Amino acid sequence: MPDVRGYFRASCRMSEELILPENQDRAERYAVLAPQLAALIGGEPDPVAAMANMSAALREAFGWHWVGFYRVLDGELVLGPFQGPVACARIAFGKGVCGTAWERNAVQVVPDVDLFPGHIACSTHTRSEIVVPVRDGSGAVVAVLDIDSTVPADFTEVDVRGLEGLCTLLAPALP
Ligand code: SME
Repeated sequence: MPDVRGYFRASCRMSEELILPENQDRAERYAVLAPQLAALIGGEPDPVAAMANMSAALREAFGWHWVGFYRVLDGELVLGPFQGPVACARIAFGKGVCGTAWERNAVQVVPDVDLFPGHIACSTHTRSEIVVPVRDGSGAVVAVLDIDSTVPADFTEVDVRGLEGLCTLLAPALP
């Protein structure tokens, strides 16, 4: 694994391709991705820039159907940077998986979206979903990271830990 710290920020004229392991072991994939994302967005103060690159990196690394952020703006979740098919723009507090993660300030792992009461179906292809709260320094939810998979029960504790770790990289971009 080459040392990629400082690589991306050095110059945008350089190749910015992610370096990913050959195998599909998810824990290893998070471990290899983390320092690259830290180099890419670790000091980025703009939330759109940081969330856009994190969405793109996660989709490229794991091939999920939809990866993106909803931000808390004026009392509701508003669609932010994402990768994948078009999605609903606004979600109310406590609604759907995203609004539930915000209300409970807790990760939501949904093995079967059809069994989640109130699930908001942005895509008929989605079978399972994970939503991770993004917290500011005081612990308040300021955004959520939402990931949809076409594979049933695609998310485990490995993803909870991996994604929570990656979301801490957004700290410099949060209010
Ligand atoms: N399924 C989400 C809505 C957002 S889309 O999946 C992109 C929910 O129930 O909150």
